[in-house]
Amino acid sequence: MVSTEKVNRRDGYRQAVTPLKLNRVALGGHLPGRGSAVQKSFADLFCGIGGFHVAATNLGMRPVFACDIDEEARKSYRANFGIEPSGDIRAIDAANIPDHDILLAGFPCQPFSIIGNMQAFSDPRGTLWFEIVRIIEGKRPRGIVLENVKQLTTVARGTVIRQILDDLAGLGYCADYRVLNALDFGLPQKRERTIIVASIERFERFPWPTAPLPLKPLEEILESDPAPKYYASAHIRRKRQARHHTDIRPAIWHENKGGNISSHPWACALRAGASYNYLLVDGERRFTPRELLRLQGFPDDFGIVCNDSQTRKQTGNAVPVPVAEAAIRGVVDVIQGSPSYGVGAPPYRAISFWPDP
Ligand SMILES: C[S@@+](CC[C@H](N)C(=O)[O-])C[C@H]1O[C@@H](n2cnc3c(N)ncnc32)[C@H](O)[C@@H]1O
Repeated sequence: MVSTEKVNRRDGYRQAVTPLKLNRVALGGHLPGRGSAVQKSFADLFCGIGGFHVAATNLGMRPVFACDIDEEARKSYRANFGIEPSGDIRAIDAANIPDHDILLAGFPCQPFSIIGNMQAFSDPRGTLWFEIVRIIEGKRPRGIVLENVKQLTTVARGTVIRQILDDLAGLGYCADYRVLNALDFGLPQKRERTIIVASIERFERFPWPTAPLPLKPLEEILESDPAPKYYASAHIRRKRQARHHTDIRPAIWHENKGGNISSHPWACALRAGASYNYLLVDGERRFTPRELLRLQGFPDDFGIVCNDSQTRKQTGNAVPVPVAEAAIRGVVDVIQGSPSYGVGAPPYRAISFWPDP
């Protein structure tokens, strides 16, 4: 690896962020364990309930800091990880954040989402990006992983992703991004997210995974005897069943904004503010909190300490754990100069084994 100081940043940057033609990435099979990641530390900005935390600690990393403005999210984080997250990032002085190797941030997505208002940086929540910039400037982590909605790459005709990449390049980081789908990481949830990775070490080609992981069947996600409160009313069930039929069970029925219903052996993306019944198991019932957590890759020993509606919101906001894990692993590999996959592998290839919903 060549340090960023020794290269022309602009050239390195251009090379690193050359847009990739594929957004359905071929992934790299099982991610090999690497003991050398053990000592790395991380800061978890906009931590939510800790999708990044679970991923990073799975890799043997050590948390040094977390923050989230939402009291319920902090309650869950505290109960599960024994860490008291700080609150509003705008009030946090970078000098008060311990040094860390990797900065992780799933920053609020509303300004960039098709569900949100698409105002991008004119929305005050969009300006939270500049809070991340401030903290990167103050702490100089060696690696960075950012997560946001898929539309981050296209909103405002690509100017938002360009600004983020420009800012990272200006700070001396080599960066790359991809839209990754949780389906390709073994979770039965079609959740496409923009993942941005950056490192102070220059890389020619980021070691993204190269082959999909086997899909976990819905049977392993669904609870066998959910409480009656999770069942939709007879009226809603009748209405759905009058408009859609499938012999496949289990299947997740999805009603889109236009009222069309489709069903799949996986869930469409969990959403924090979605209507109550937009995803129904077999057209009959909502997911339980444990099922929602499983759909995001959280382990079963993750404690549920908030009420159902909070857990629904929190899981709808979370980063899928195996997606986060793959990105963090790639950044750690780049920093250590020891890519575990991707580099030297056969060229990326499109995969289309999932029907589009
Ligand atoms: C997309 S979610 C991140 C979820 C997280 N990656 C996870 O796995 O649970 C964005 C988070 O940013 C938090 N947030 C919004 N504004 C904030 C602010 N000013 N300071 C700190 N956190 C904030 C929200 O409460 C929310 O939990």
